[in-house]
Amino acid sequence: MAFYLLILLGITSSLFGIGASSGEQPLSRIAIHQTTLAVHSSAYVKVSPSVLGLKGENKEWVTLNFGHPNPSSDDWIGVFSPANFSASVCAPENEKVYPPTLCTSPIKFQYANYKDNGYNKTGAGSLKLQLINQREDFSFALFSGGFSNPKLVAVSNTVTFAYPKAPVYPRLAQGKSWNEMTVTWTSGYSIDEAIPFVEWVSKGGTPTRSPAGTLTISRSSMCGAPARTVGWRDPGYIHTSFLKDLWPNMKYAYRLGHKLNNGSYVWSRSYSFRASPYPGQESLQRVIIFGDMGKAEADGSNEYNDFQPASLNTTNQLIKDLENIDIVLHIGDLCYANGYISQWDQFTAQIEPIASTVPYMV
Ligand SMILES: *[C@@H]1O[C@H](CO)[C@@H](O)[C@H](O)[C@H]1NC(C)=O
Ligand SMILES: *[C@@H]1O[C@H](CO)[C@@H](O)[C@H](O)[C@H]1NC(C)=O
Ligand SMILES: *[C@@H]1O[C@H](CO)[C@@H](O)[C@H](O)[C@H]1NC(C)=O
Ligand SMILES: *[C@@H]1O[C@H](CO)[C@@H](O)[C@H](O)[C@H]1NC(C)=O
Ligand SMILES: [Fe+2]
Repeated sequence: MAFYLLILLGITSSLFGIGASSGEQPLSRIAIHQTTLAVHSSAYVKVSPSVLGLKGENKEWVTLNFGHPNPSSDDWIGVFSPANFSASVCAPENEKVYPPTLCTSPIKFQYANYKDNGYNKTGAGSLKLQLINQREDFSFALFSGGFSNPKLVAVSNTVTFAYPKAPVYPRLAQGKSWNEMTVTWTSGYSIDEAIPFVEWVSKGGTPTRSPAGTLTISRSSMCGAPARTVGWRDPGYIHTSFLKDLWPNMKYAYRLGHKLNNGSYVWSRSYSFRASPYPGQESLQRVIIFGDMGKAEADGSNEYNDFQPASLNTTNQLIKDLENIDIVLHIGDLCYANGYISQWDQFTAQIEPIASTVPYMV
C-alpha cells in the first residue's frame, strides 16, 4: 500500500511539479532506432574497482579513466545499468522524454571535462562517481555530440556489486496503531526464490521474525513514455513487513532477511529504531514536515529532471540532526522520477539513513 502511495505521489508530481502534462502525441508510437557510432579504436573508458560491496556496502565510489583522440568540451559519460545497453537513438515519444534520448536511458551522466582537468585539450580525463546497489551490473560509456546528438565513442569494463540482489534501503512507517511499525525495502528476490522477513530484537530480548509481503510493478502497467519506454528499468521487488506489539519507547535492532529455497539466508546490515511512546504518555515528539524535496547525485552527476540539487542539503542536515527527530512527514512530491524508474532506487538510497531510523511518512 505504501508503495502505491509513492507511485500516486510520483504522478501528482509530474502533473503539478514541472511543466504542463498533455495526452499522447501522434508520433508516440513510432520509435526511431538509429545507432550513431563514432567508436574509435584508441578511445577507452576504464573503471575500477570492478567488484563493489564486498563487505556488504550498498553505496561505493568508482574511479573512471578515459581517453579520446578527438575530445570536445561537450563529450559526456553515461552510466548504464544493466551494463548491456542500447546506444541507439530513440526519438522522444512525448515532451516528457528528455535528452540524452538514447533507447536505454542512462541512470545518470556527467561531462567528461567536469573536473576541468584538461580533458578537452589532452583527451585524457578522470571522474569519481558514486554507485548504489540497484540489482544489476553497470557500464560507463563515452559519447561525443553532447546530450542532443549523442554518438558512442567507447564503453568501459563491467562493474558489479558482489551481492546485487541483496535487501536494501529500508524505510519505516508508523503502523496503524501506536505499537506497530512497518518496514518496507527493496530486493532482487521474488517470492519464488526466497521468503522475505524482518528479524527484530530489543536489547537482551529474544529475536522475533515477521513475514513480509512482496509487490512489484510491470512495464505494461505504466501509462506512457518515458516510464513505459526508454525510462523503464526493472524495479525489483518491494517488501513490507509489520512489526507488532512493540513496547513503548523501546529501542529495537532489526535486519532484513531472505530465506533462499536451499535453506541459506541473505541478510542486510543491522538498523535500529525507537518505538513510539504509549498513548497519553507525556513526552516530547519532534516532527519534521516538508514536501517537494526531489533527489540528487552526491557525485554531481546530471540525471533526468535534474533540478533539486539542494535535496542533498536537506537530507544531509536531517542526518546530522537525526538524534533530535522522532518522525518525518514528507508530504508529497518525493523524487520527481517522472518516468525514469531507476531514480526510485536512488531516492530510497538517499533517504535511507533517515527513513531506516525514524518513521518516514509519505
Ligand atoms: C574546456 O573545458 C573548460 C571547462 O569546462 C571550458 O571552460 C573551456 O572553454 C573548454 N575549452 C575548449 C577548447 O573547449
Ligand atoms: C544484450 O542485449 C541485446 C538486446 O536485448 C541481446 O540481444 C544480447 O544478447 C545481449 N547481450 C548480452 C551479452 O547479454
Ligand atoms: C544456496 O543458494 C545460493 C544462491 O544460489 C548460494 O549462494 C548458496 O551457496 C547456496 N547455499 C547452500 C547451502 O547450498
Ligand atoms: C548546499 O550544499 C552545497 C554543496 O555542499 C553547498 O555548496 C551549498 O552552500 C549548500 N546550500 C545551502 C543553502 O546550505
Ligand atoms: Fe513539487
